[in-house]
Amino acid sequence: MSLKRSIFRLTADYKIKNFDCGDSDLNEFFYQDAFNYTEQLLAVTYVVETKVKTMGFFSVANDKIQILENKSIWNRLNRNIQNVKRRRAYPAVKLGRLGIDKEWQSQNVGTELLGYIKEFFLQNNKTGCRFITVDAYNNSATTSFYQKNGFAFFLTQDTQEKTRLMFYDLMLYKNANV
Ligand SMILES: CC(C)(COP(=O)(O)OP(=O)(O)OC[C@H]1O[C@@H](n2cnc3c(N)ncnc32)[C@H](O)[C@@H]1OP(=O)(O)O)[C@@H](O)C(=O)NCCC(=O)NCCS
Repeated sequence: MSLKRSIFRLTADYKIKNFDCGDSDLNEFFYQDAFNYTEQLLAVTYVVETKVKTMGFFSVANDKIQILENKSIWNRLNRNIQNVKRRRAYPAVKLGRLGIDKEWQSQNVGTELLGYIKEFFLQNNKTGCRFITVDAYNNSATTSFYQKNGFAFFLTQDTQEKTRLMFYDLMLYKNANV
């Protein structure tokens, strides 16, 4: 994040500064529910802002990624895991919500936030976390945003659903940044 921006955990007294990501469900979550989720220990929301504007937010919660009936995707995912460490499930974090203000879209802020999340769960996590998962809106703009950031589809049977489950292997980020 550039110096002019700050990123922090959402608090009860934070006043959202004129935010609109263009998606009413995400806006409503941010304005009305985000802090309740934190209080209920269901998700934690982080905010990125300048002095005058809330630029974006994301929410994260613990998750796990587990063995699939479709073995080809599971085998592909397992290829990067040492044989002796292969399991039927791996620890993950779910990127539950992500929204960037309309004024700031297509200026790399979403990509920067994904980089921040990758770094955060690699460097600062208190427990093991191998994957980031996301239920991405099933439209080509959103899924290609995640693909450009290294995420892949996890299922083949959700192509017609409202969202598609995608995952990112944090080992990719670790190996690229050693
Ligand atoms: C999807 C979103 C988080 C991406 O953040 P961003 O800061 O705009 O993305 P970046 O600038 O880092 O990357 C841009 C890429 O994101 C994709 N994208 C997806 N939705 C987009 C949108 N509404 N506007 C612009 N780009 C979008 C495009 O592929 C774009 O690539 P391009 O610039 O080559 O066309 C943001 O656009 C957003 O908040 N959209 C509305 C809410 C939403 O769909 N959230 C995701 C829920 S799973």
